[in-house]
Amino acid sequence: MKIHIASDHAGFELKEAIKKQFSNRFEWEDHGTFSSESVDYPDFAHPLAAAVANDAAERGILICGTGNGVAITANKHANVRAALCWNHDIAALARQHNDANVLVMPARFIDQATAFDLVETFFNTAFEGGRHERRVQKINVR
Ligand code: RB5
Repeated sequence: MKIHIASDHAGFELKEAIKKQFSNRFEWEDHGTFSSESVDYPDFAHPLAAAVANDAAERGILICGTGNGVAITANKHANVRAALCWNHDIAALARQHNDANVLVMPARFIDQATAFDLVETFFNTAFEGGRHERRVQKINVR
């Protein structure tokens, strides 16, 4: 399974750790950043979001310091449902109820073990559909 991944400088170390941890499971399409040098998060979140928005099968991971910058940016793209997750249940519910297609993590507020669990949970949890399908269908602004 191919997963898009991107971060700013605050998320760079965690991005690299996640790529390594799940290297046997996922093929990564890395949209940067590629060092800890200070950058602007929209420059990385927009390309990832554009890739996910254009294909219903695509999935992504975005990381910045709080997660908010990349989440706000990615959610400007129609069909992107980028969910800021910081614990197990929120990651599971982002998939079950929101059919989130981008996992967003706050690198400065979670440890690495939590981040690995969020990735596991997000990509192992299915959308429940039903009443949630109707709600998800109402998200895009027409
Ligand atoms: C970078 O210092 C920080 O502002 C960024 O990573 C993110 O938290 C923005 O939302």
